[in-house]
Amino acid sequence: MSRTVFRAVTGALALVAAAALIPLGSHAWAAEGGVVIGGQPAHVKDSPWVVALSSRDRFGESRAGQFCGGVAVAPKKVLTAAHCLSRAALGVDVASLRDLRVITGRDALLGAGGKEIPVREAWANPGFNPITNAGDLAVLTLAEALPEKSVVPMAGSGDAGYAPGTEAAVYGWGDTTGNNDYASSLRAAKVSVLPDAACAQAYSGGGSGTYDASTMLCAGELLGGYDACQGDSGGPLVARGRLIGLVSWGDGCAKAGSPGVYTRISAAIGWMPGAG
Ligand code: ARG
Repeated sequence: MSRTVFRAVTGALALVAAAALIPLGSHAWAAEGGVVIGGQPAHVKDSPWVVALSSRDRFGESRAGQFCGGVAVAPKKVLTAAHCLSRAALGVDVASLRDLRVITGRDALLGAGGKEIPVREAWANPGFNPITNAGDLAVLTLAEALPEKSVVPMAGSGDAGYAPGTEAAVYGWGDTTGNNDYASSLRAAKVSVLPDAACAQAYSGGGSGTYDASTMLCAGELLGGYDACQGDSGGPLVARGRLIGLVSWGDGCAKAGSPGVYTRISAAIGWMPGAG
């Protein structure tokens, strides 16, 4: 109860602060909805490294089995979120999933074109903490190689893409409103990389989670309106042409004062298994 009140107050303060800093016109289309929330249609021809994770056995035909996003960082190597492969998400152990596939080269999940490539090996970070979401990264090895041009480089530590204020884009087929309105075709939203201090303040522990700058980064807008949402997990956050994050968690979606939290790619480059 007191926590809710506290959140409401900090949210209101954030709004006041943001209103003083940001011209209102720049958020005029925030109410439109989109991936991702506040997004617009995106196309795999422009972002060929975005993939959908699919299992029709677990999630049915209606959305081609899509349940998470992913991103190709090498011809046979796709990154996604560890929580996407958890028993909690799949209902079974990932090892017993017979039809785990990556959908590539296709905007509309039920459209023609593109390919569905079986996953040969799935490695979820054994250090992933499902309570705090720290280390939320998994590596999929594909049975067939993607074209070299379909991969995005990863941003190492010190990359300018991590600087607060950098404009980034998040991609996915997830919920576009926060009310289970799942996108049938790929969408992307522009978000700003936020300072760690703002994320630590937004997520200081308790009910809505704890921000850990050593493994996470956060992005969004102070007024909310632009964010990833359910179903976007594991999908890419790209800045300056490099991968900086994977959709991981957040308190609700696109709420003022509750930015999206991403797996920080630079923190994982050292320990993730190499390209297959
Ligand atoms: N955990 C969610 C998923 O599995 C992603 C949530 C992201 N939330 C956010 N507000 N950015 O799809």
